[in-house]
Amino acid sequence: MDYFNYHQDGQLWAEDVSLESLAEQHGTPLYVYSRATFERHWNAFDTAAGDHPHLVCYAVKANSNLGVLSVLARLGSGFDIVSQGELERVLAAGGDPKKIVFSGVGKTATEMRRALELGIKCFNVESEAELDRLNEVAGQVGVVAPISLRINPDVDAKTHPYISTGLKENKFGISFDRAREVYRYASELPHLNVQGIDCHIGSQLTDLAPFIESTDRLLGLIDQLREDGVEICHLDVGGGLGVTYNDEKPPQPSEYASALLERLQGHKDIELIFEPGRAIAANAGVLLTRVEYLKHNEEKNFAIIDAAMNDLLRPSLYQAWQDIIPVTPRDSEAKTYDLVGPVCETGDYLGKNRSLALEAGDLLAVRSAGAYGFVMSSNYNSRCRAAEVLVDGNVAHVVRQRETLSELWQQEQVLPQ
Ligand code: LLP
Repeated sequence: MDYFNYHQDGQLWAEDVSLESLAEQHGTPLYVYSRATFERHWNAFDTAAGDHPHLVCYAVKANSNLGVLSVLARLGSGFDIVSQGELERVLAAGGDPKKIVFSGVGKTATEMRRALELGIKCFNVESEAELDRLNEVAGQVGVVAPISLRINPDVDAKTHPYISTGLKENKFGISFDRAREVYRYASELPHLNVQGIDCHIGSQLTDLAPFIESTDRLLGLIDQLREDGVEICHLDVGGGLGVTYNDEKPPQPSEYASALLERLQGHKDIELIFEPGRAIAANAGVLLTRVEYLKHNEEKNFAIIDAAMNDLLRPSLYQAWQDIIPVTPRDSEAKTYDLVGPVCETGDYLGKNRSLALEAGDLLAVRSAGAYGFVMSSNYNSRCRAAEVLVDGNVAHVVRQRETLSELWQQEQVLPQ
């Protein structure tokens, strides 16, 4: 559930602010987020885990705006990061370093050093080479690094191949078959302290079965590791819970968590860590865009809108479907449109074959744009990145200004004569 609804005036609002008024004031394309929706989704995970020891580490990559992070930090959220950039953002937003887990296959020594100095909760290590590097850096800093190993459980998440990560053929994690051996190796390194086990099998999963299968595999491994003298204190199940973009019916966080807790019956002392990104952020945001032109040819009707693949890449990159709805619906007859942006690529579209009653100048909302939206935007075609607004009740905070033209080339220079 989210807080983007049509009000009695027939218009779409974000909480208690009309989207027409926001577009008017801040221009388009414009990302609009709802604080209440972020909080609702984060709390859904937190309460679902009940009194079992747990930590919800929001996956920063889904939406890393400081305003958003500050809302979650105030709830006491942990954070899952994959770069120093994300680490510094979390700190700038008031996040607690002791609740940070650091994922990713390519952590640099600099990134490790900074995270060690801050005393993060855990490094989710993905290879033996990374264990060696972390051991060395921790030795230099004079601390012991808390680690977890990301185990690849070889489970098919049955999602889009670009966002499926738990199969043997993927670059992620340590293969299940080698896990015991690598744990043994890790526990012998003097500057590392084995704390946990983690996995992340993919994103936008709409079925519980792959989650349960991988959790069972990891719990089995925890028991074997105990026999080897390696004590695991936390199980990090990664992110990946899907959301409704169209007619998907993903499990609710409560169903997801209770299925996991049931498996954890025999392991009541093991802290459960979640890394949800999309499930918290996707439906907490919309992208507002205006129709610039309507164009018709023998084959198609096009609505040329002012948002493009540089603003929201998911449709072009994954053929992802996101709902596109009028902010002020019209009574006139609907036609079938392709909604395309101004970028010079055939693949630049946000929606195809959508039935809408449109006129030039109309305002549209692309739904479910709070996750993997702005964060994946670029300046392609020298387009300024959109502004972002976070609505809180009847107040709208600009949490990122629209980029200006001169900022586009601020870091560049022409050659000397
Ligand atoms: N933890 C790890 C280690 C991850 O790699 C990811 C996402 C997450 C957590 C959060 O997963 P979520 O709960 O959001 O599914 N750009 C793609 C999604 C890429 C996800 C990458 N990893 C998209 O727009 O669909």
